[in-house]
Amino acid sequence: MTTTQTLTITRPDDWHLHLRDGELLKAIVGHTAAQFGRAIVMPNLNPPITTTEHAKAYQARILDALQQTVPAADFLPLMTLYLTDNTGPDEIYRAKNSGIVHGVKLYPAGATTNSDAGVTDLLGHCAKTLEAMQDEGMPLLVHGEVTDPAIDLFDREAVFIDRVMIPLRKQFPALKVVFEHLTTSEGVAYVTEAEGPIAATITAHHLLYNRNAMFVGGLRPHWYCLPVLKREKHREALLGAATGDTGRFFLGTDSAPHARGRKEQDCGCAGCYTALHAMELYATAFDSVSRIDRLQAFASENGPAFYGLAPNTSTITLEKQPFTIPGSLQLGGDEVVPLAGGEALAWSIKA
Ligand code: NCD
Ligand code: ZN
Repeated sequence: MTTTQTLTITRPDDWHLHLRDGELLKAIVGHTAAQFGRAIVMPNLNPPITTTEHAKAYQARILDALQQTVPAADFLPLMTLYLTDNTGPDEIYRAKNSGIVHGVKLYPAGATTNSDAGVTDLLGHCAKTLEAMQDEGMPLLVHGEVTDPAIDLFDREAVFIDRVMIPLRKQFPALKVVFEHLTTSEGVAYVTEAEGPIAATITAHHLLYNRNAMFVGGLRPHWYCLPVLKREKHREALLGAATGDTGRFFLGTDSAPHARGRKEQDCGCAGCYTALHAMELYATAFDSVSRIDRLQAFASENGPAFYGLAPNTSTITLEKQPFTIPGSLQLGGDEVVPLAGGEALAWSIKA
């Protein structure tokens, strides 16, 4: 008789998550709370969360949604601010003192969904604010893509390293930086070798799929996210980083739900919904290279260590039993197609 392979790990955290607001928030927050102890909540609402006061109110709405839907859940949303050209040092001091804000997110203006309020000239407009962040130990969470239309979409992360990341970290060498949703071998090499406090999140979809996934048999909008999926060699580099032992790479789903109709249209939104089946996706990716033993460090240890927090104290158990992803979900009045809906994953969460 063969026994099912199981894996018990410290409860993981999601270091990059979109929780949205209103009815959709209520419908999705339980998915994340079922798997993760904490999550870094992205501030790209419309309008964005730009102040500590807004972040406090948003955190209260998240906790309220949790209370209404899964009152027994043990889940803490870690809040972020959206950096704009007008964010001043005082806001950083307020954020630090609040104890609830754990990072400030840089969206280059126009880079992705709801990023119109983003920064137009980082070192030109935000130097005093970055200095305050460096002094206070407040991490800068970076959407690392240039928005220059002359740069090929698939090269925008690599060009960002040269044009923004290197000058930024030269001027602020002690600033804690998280390179969010890393997608390229150039990004992996940079984060691995750079000096100082730098780390990166990696999504499950960038570990499992290359850019072909967007075009299998036709246009597949539910595989479209930003930064966009890249070539196979980049996926392999990301898997190597995620399963490696630098301690600089950790889990960030970038789960970002959009209503089906907003993705299936003439100009469809970027974002993949993965919160429902995040750990099943990651476990399947790690096991594909026989490195399931490295999941605990990536999912549960490296993130808290970088953010200066203790790991969670409870555990979750995964088992090598097929999990069939629902083809579609009804979430707060919207139909949302989860990533790889209808397909089966090798791993599931043990109830
Ligand atoms: C995110 C969203 O929809 O909010 N979309 C995405 O493709 N990842 C925005 C983002 O994180 O870039
Ligand atoms: Zn995101």
